[in-house]
Amino acid sequence: MRIELTRAEVPVGLSWAEAAARVAEGRGPVLAEDLSGDPLRFSVDEEHRFALRPMTPGDFPDVTRWVNTPHVATWWDGNRSAEQVTAHYGPGVRGEEAVRYWIWEVNGRSVGFCQDYRIADHPEFALLCGRPDAIGFDYVIGEPAFVDRGLGTKLLWTFLRDLVVPAYDPVSEVFAAPDHRNTRSLRVLAKLGARQGMWFDEPQSDGRVQTVVGCSIDVATVLRTRP
Ligand SMILES: CC(C)(COP(=O)(O)OP(=O)(O)OC[C@H]1O[C@@H](n2cnc3c(N)ncnc32)[C@H](O)[C@@H]1OP(=O)(O)O)[C@@H](O)C(=O)NCCC(=O)NCCS
Repeated sequence: MRIELTRAEVPVGLSWAEAAARVAEGRGPVLAEDLSGDPLRFSVDEEHRFALRPMTPGDFPDVTRWVNTPHVATWWDGNRSAEQVTAHYGPGVRGEEAVRYWIWEVNGRSVGFCQDYRIADHPEFALLCGRPDAIGFDYVIGEPAFVDRGLGTKLLWTFLRDLVVPAYDPVSEVFAAPDHRNTRSLRVLAKLGARQGMWFDEPQSDGRVQTVVGCSIDVATVLRTRP
């Protein structure tokens, strides 16, 4: 089922997600297709079941494989060996760091992972990006067969709406900063209703410096106005 709403049709006081859910009248979770233009495009996906579960050490072999896949390795910061992946993700998985790691599943198959964190808990990044009050998120679809099919947009929408916004309530902004050359990632964020802001240089753990584009989603406009 496809849902199109012009921006003018969104009732005052409702977010885009809430307005689309009202049109769907309970026919299933409403997912973003493309919120970059007018009309806003949503759908109810009857073919795929999207789920997120906390990452565990049992996922580290998959994570290692995913971050070494060429379409990911170009854009993802270091930590490529199994030992590095265990050292990097282990503390967060054990709840010892101010970050949450999740595995993405499509129809029961693990296809990638994502993470969220209060930017204020990471002062160096907060200083670089200038968004200390926002919630940061990062994401990877590691299985090449699942890329470029619209699934990343839907997975991120589910993640932000169902796991990020409720967990950090009240939150007014969610924020990601892809490399300025990562046009696919920038396009996905645009499809999620993000607006581009400041460019800044972000040092990577492997010595590279990425020039990244700050992208913000206004929670009240796009995702949720009310608890
Ligand atoms: C970023 C990522 C999660 C997006 O998921 P996805 O399922 O591929 O995204 P979607 O299919 O929903 O959308 C991709 C969009 O980018 C477009 N696209 C793909 N390659 C592109 C390119 N080289 N230049 C411009 N646009 C491109 C697609 O056409 C599509 O846009 P459209 O729907 O308007 O046609 C996934 O590609 C990924 O994991 N990439 C590698 C890791 C990464 O870059 N992570 C982000 C770090 S910030």
